[in-house]
Amino acid sequence: MGKDVIIACDFSSKEATMAFLDKFTEDSLYLKIGMELFYAAGPDIVREIKARGHKIFLDLKLHDIPNTVMKAMNVLSKLDVDMCNLHASGTISMMEAALKGLMREDGTRPLLIAVTQLTSTSEERMQKDLLINAPLNETVLHYAHNAKVAGLDGVVCSPLEAGIVKERCGKEFITVTPGVRFADGDVGDQVRITTPAKAKEIGSDYIVVGRPITAAEDPVAAYRRCVKEFVD
Ligand code: C5P
Repeated sequence: MGKDVIIACDFSSKEATMAFLDKFTEDSLYLKIGMELFYAAGPDIVREIKARGHKIFLDLKLHDIPNTVMKAMNVLSKLDVDMCNLHASGTISMMEAALKGLMREDGTRPLLIAVTQLTSTSEERMQKDLLINAPLNETVLHYAHNAKVAGLDGVVCSPLEAGIVKERCGKEFITVTPGVRFADGDVGDQVRITTPAKAKEIGSDYIVVGRPITAAEDPVAAYRRCVKEFVD
């Protein structure tokens, strides 16, 4: 399975995104577009970025009744994204419906990845607000297993969890991991972090890197450093 560095394009407008992408004249990139940019710029941003030859992970985290998610996924598959995601808490039937919606007429589909428990959810909040009494780690692994049962390709998780997710769900089950920082870089608001080299060692398939690249003085050099540490 090919490893790749996904750049989180956490920009609020098309102009800012394109100005950032203009710096990369030689690289074919894998870009994560989240809710902020997608809602601000609309589906055209996906078409324009694809037209530049880049790949796209559309991070919209769908969660609704199965029929609605199936139809929404069908729209996303026609946008020609390479990877998209949903909340595993929507149940196995919702995930199965999503997969069905994603399938294109030619039999291909984007990768479908599940969010287990958001990293912003603490064990205490999960137990008190959501009335889930299991430990957080167990919930994460159980949701990952549900995603596998539904036929999904993998999960988004902390790089530190990538090893145990693979143990539970198999080595082909994809782990997409944010929370990556250079050893000598700013941590910012991330807590459970690791370096690109360490993420490779633990077994992440894709690392999602935002500010260490987007806020770097030389984003192209920072991107290439990530690739060197994680892929090469
Ligand atoms: O700038 P930074 O490298 O922290 O960006 C990480 C990206 O990954 C952001 O788009 C953030 O929303 C996303 N993310 C995360 N932790 C998760 C899920 C997504 O940091 N558990």
